[in-house]
Amino acid sequence: MNLQPARHITGELRLPGDKSISHRVALIAALGEVSSEISNFSTAADCASTLSCLRELGIPIEQKQDKVVVPGGQELSAPRGPLDCGNSGSTLRMLAGVLAGHDLTAELTGDASLRSRPMRRIIEPLEMMGAKIESNDGKAPLKVHGSSRLNPITYKLPVASAQVKSAILFAGLSATGRTTVIETSPTRDHTERLFNGFDIPVTTNLDHSVTLWAQGRFLGGSMTIPGDISSAAYFVAAAMLLPDSQLTIEGVGLNPTRAAFLSVLTSWGASISTTDLRTERNEPYGTINVRGGLTGTATESDRTLSGSMIPSLIDELPLLAVVGSQIEGGIQIRDAAELRHKESDRLAATAANLRAMGADVEEFDDGLAVSGPTRLHGALIDSHGDHRIAMAFSVAALIAEGETEITGAECVAISFPEFFTLLESVAQR
Ligand code: S3P
Repeated sequence: MNLQPARHITGELRLPGDKSISHRVALIAALGEVSSEISNFSTAADCASTLSCLRELGIPIEQKQDKVVVPGGQELSAPRGPLDCGNSGSTLRMLAGVLAGHDLTAELTGDASLRSRPMRRIIEPLEMMGAKIESNDGKAPLKVHGSSRLNPITYKLPVASAQVKSAILFAGLSATGRTTVIETSPTRDHTERLFNGFDIPVTTNLDHSVTLWAQGRFLGGSMTIPGDISSAAYFVAAAMLLPDSQLTIEGVGLNPTRAAFLSVLTSWGASISTTDLRTERNEPYGTINVRGGLTGTATESDRTLSGSMIPSLIDELPLLAVVGSQIEGGIQIRDAAELRHKESDRLAATAANLRAMGADVEEFDDGLAVSGPTRLHGALIDSHGDHRIAMAFSVAALIAEGETEITGAECVAISFPEFFTLLESVAQR
């Protein structure tokens, strides 16, 4: 994919449904008693992986454009072959939690990237609950031998991960008592919000631990999925960096455990407001308005991203590093070693690609320091087959001097197949 610089970003957008919410609502619907209609379902290849795995487990899901219909009152049945989760860590980890709570055996696998990612983080708690999981030395393929009568556990997460927390909570639906997950840094809380939104009682305690009170079957039901805030992030960043931009994104998810990047960008001088705030099944959503150009000077503490704020920025960190190259004084990211275990090593990929565009970057084990402001120049960018790297550097291409080529850019379909078409629709040259 070859990209030219843009002068500004103008327009109004509506985005496909949030990826994280779509995965969870599909799983809840598949386990529920009533038929569910899910509208604005994510168009991400990752969410298609969740639907196809559920079909392999015997749930006859139908899909017409963005509408997914899941019949209720179904029992999961043992699949005929391995379940292919593609590139999707959320599919594999959360489905492992669901399977742990069913009396069947199923194998979960995925592409080379997914098979290289750490899975002990779910194997340990799910085995404590009574499931048996065979693995390839802590990695996928995972063979899950589940049980519909799991032990309730109280489990402290060794890594801040919403996927692991959610795997335990989905398994907890089959435990014979209360399941509690203790988080040291709060991670995205979609599972808790949606469980409550679908009448499966979960409490979030003051110490950020989460307790699931329900066991057994529940109703399920319909939902319209809010637009994907992580997809919105690329457009917000491009609009703020290009003076005279004016962008509106309607109906986008604004869950506080996902929207932290909006506060970070505002503290770096962006003009961003949110309006029309509403909720659907406990998930807040609304309109994001962005005006181009930076005002004011960010303090050193505003320009340091570290500690407990990292999990709520996790998927936006490569993009924030790109934006950081334009901020007076530069930025630092620390405590983010988890980025090395995503779809690619996102710290290494971000550092190498920013350097290729002329930025001064220092790489640490757990983060990056990016100097700024730097005039970026077009370059050959390696996406490493990682959708978030491809999209972050598409934003860099818009603000750079000269042409940028991104190799493997088709990987954006993992989370956002419409990305380049929508970007062209709002980029003014
Ligand atoms: C996700 C959680 C995050 C995030 C991923 C989606 C989720 O992963 O990076 O893109 O839907 O729960 P971890 O929870 O493993 O950090």
